[in-house]
Amino acid sequence: MSKRKILITSALPYANGPTHLGHLLEYIQTDIWSRYQKLRGHEAYYVCADDAHGTPIMLNAQKQGITPEQMVANVSVERQRDFADFLIEFDNYHSTHSEENKVLSELVYNRLNDGGYIKKRTISQLFDEEKGIFLPDRFVTGTCPTCDAEDQNGDSCDACGATYSPTELKKPRSVMSGATPVLRDSEHYFFDLPAFEGMLKEWLHSGSIQEEMANKLEEWFADGLQQWDISRDAPYFGFEIPGAPGKYFYVWLDAPIGYMASFKNLCDKKGLNFDEFWAPDSDAELYHFIGKDIIYFHSLFWPAMLEGAQFRKPNNVFAHGFVTVNGAKMSKSKGTFIKARTYLDHVGNPEYLRYYFAAKLNSGITDLDLNLEDFSQRVNSDLVGKVVNIASRCAGFITKKFDGKLSSTVSEPELLAQFQQAQQSIADNFEKREYSRAIREIMALADKANQYIDAQAPWVLIKQEDAQQQAHDVCSMGLNLFKILMTYLKPVLPGMTQQVESFLNTTLTWESIDTPLLSHDITKFKALMQRVDMDKVNNMVTESQESLAPAKPVIEENSPLAKEPIADEIEFDDFAKVDLRVAKIAKAEHVEGADKLLKLTLDLGGETRQVFAGIKSAYQPEDIEGKLTVMVANLKPRKMRFGMSEGMVLAAGPGGKEIYILNPDDGSKPGMRVM
Ligand code: MSP
Ligand code: ZN
Repeated sequence: MSKRKILITSALPYANGPTHLGHLLEYIQTDIWSRYQKLRGHEAYYVCADDAHGTPIMLNAQKQGITPEQMVANVSVERQRDFADFLIEFDNYHSTHSEENKVLSELVYNRLNDGGYIKKRTISQLFDEEKGIFLPDRFVTGTCPTCDAEDQNGDSCDACGATYSPTELKKPRSVMSGATPVLRDSEHYFFDLPAFEGMLKEWLHSGSIQEEMANKLEEWFADGLQQWDISRDAPYFGFEIPGAPGKYFYVWLDAPIGYMASFKNLCDKKGLNFDEFWAPDSDAELYHFIGKDIIYFHSLFWPAMLEGAQFRKPNNVFAHGFVTVNGAKMSKSKGTFIKARTYLDHVGNPEYLRYYFAAKLNSGITDLDLNLEDFSQRVNSDLVGKVVNIASRCAGFITKKFDGKLSSTVSEPELLAQFQQAQQSIADNFEKREYSRAIREIMALADKANQYIDAQAPWVLIKQEDAQQQAHDVCSMGLNLFKILMTYLKPVLPGMTQQVESFLNTTLTWESIDTPLLSHDITKFKALMQRVDMDKVNNMVTESQESLAPAKPVIEENSPLAKEPIADEIEFDDFAKVDLRVAKIAKAEHVEGADKLLKLTLDLGGETRQVFAGIKSAYQPEDIEGKLTVMVANLKPRKMRFGMSEGMVLAAGPGGKEIYILNPDDGSKPGMRVM
């Protein structure tokens, strides 16, 4: 087989929020494929990057009071730690907010522009005047124009399913400020996608595009391709468009170019030839692994951009379905929205999950259910009960009785040949991303190995003096079968394979499938894998639920909470004892001889109270007369130096000039209960 040059990517995760099990499906699927290609001796590179740009990231950073660069850097550290701990092995992990990506994005854009594929048009968009920003659809809410349901998203209604543009919403509001957005004109840049329809149709029929993807593409062609808006106005976290001050590339323009940028960064580090992989006549292969939600970007915009900018197109785009947990969409309230880190903290071994995903993955885009019961049973019965069991039943005797050396003969050549001959079909299934089929074949072989050992019963032979050779041969045979199984599983279980390589004292290569270990020294067997503990799995779910409960907030230094921490928790009954009422300040007066107090006459709507309030440093009587406030109406009257005080008004602030009495909304009436 000739050596292929293969560039492999996974979608670039937004540098916003933690890695979860849904993400992991994709990176594990890709990593298995990349490791498989490398195991077959191909020159394969697996690159990825943080997708750093866009409005949500910019706003999230603002909320945290840090620059987007800082936030992206923080998330990247966590992200790469998660990936490494799940044994996802990138050849390079970069960022779309990088010099390489800036240069390449400008290059692609300039070439598209020179080719006449960039058009300008003025569009009218909702603008938040308070925040000074154009609002992406997701940042507008309002009343559905179709069914009048309130508080619906800017692009679609959860109540009736209607889709619309945010300008059609009734009573639109900006999510950022609550302000009513206004329409404002701005010139936008568009990429002329329809110009590439012919090429895209050809591309669709050229390779082995997934059937479901081909169907979607046909639908989109039938609907008619649209010009794609690729510019966003400042403020925006991204790259400024060359020759267009204040206009930025929409995040989805420079995101896929990030694949190239990450590879370019790798080329510069390793001395690889970038053009060999990206020139239009490249004989290297290019594959993108993505989720089904981003097919449009990868099967329409991206090939068209590459074509228009005179780069090669991908050989294929491989979409997968979404992870569901226990049969339903991952849910924060059910505790099934599980973060990568939470899994590691509780369940631990990343290879359980790698194996389970592999055992269920195929080349289609149907969703994949992680059923947690099934997960633990499957891993325990296949990996611990079948695969590891082979080694643990054979290894001890070799070490104790045969000086740690395997026998010099293959006692069951036919059985060995069966294991070897399976390589073609298993290879095909890995290549076609039919991992579940590959795993099924591997487990069928594992069953055969166990049946062989059961039938030979080396633990019986070992006790018979005249059967020592036979016992040696059987255990050696078992370990050679085990070695082949582990070679097939190497892309899925790289960590366990490493332990096995040191135990068998050899490197597991695809070529070595054909060469059994004879008269070969092995080392002492150590437990390779613990059983999945369902209690730990359950704890993981519980914690995922708990992490939803308002976590103890990190209190900022200058927050009032830093000076006056929240008091100890009380029962609802304690709270219910306090009778809070709206009161009107009918009269406010200075008190002779008191330097802190004002005397208030409070109207409770049918009853008046006299209250002395320590608010003189902040208010003049005339400031507050006629206003509504909130009082504790059932406080036991206290005799003060200046008279009885029959209650207390509520105010906030540290004191001095900074005291603010609470003002309930004008709609409320004196005497109303405050809850
Ligand atoms: N930043 C874009 C991709 C840009 S590629 C040039 C993006 N990022 S993402 O963080 O939202 O998702 C990263 C990948 O994870 C996507 O392929 C997405 O489909 C996948 N998944 C996110 N949630 C998932 C599940 N619940 N299940 C399976 N895959 C999921 O999209
Ligand atoms: Zn509706």
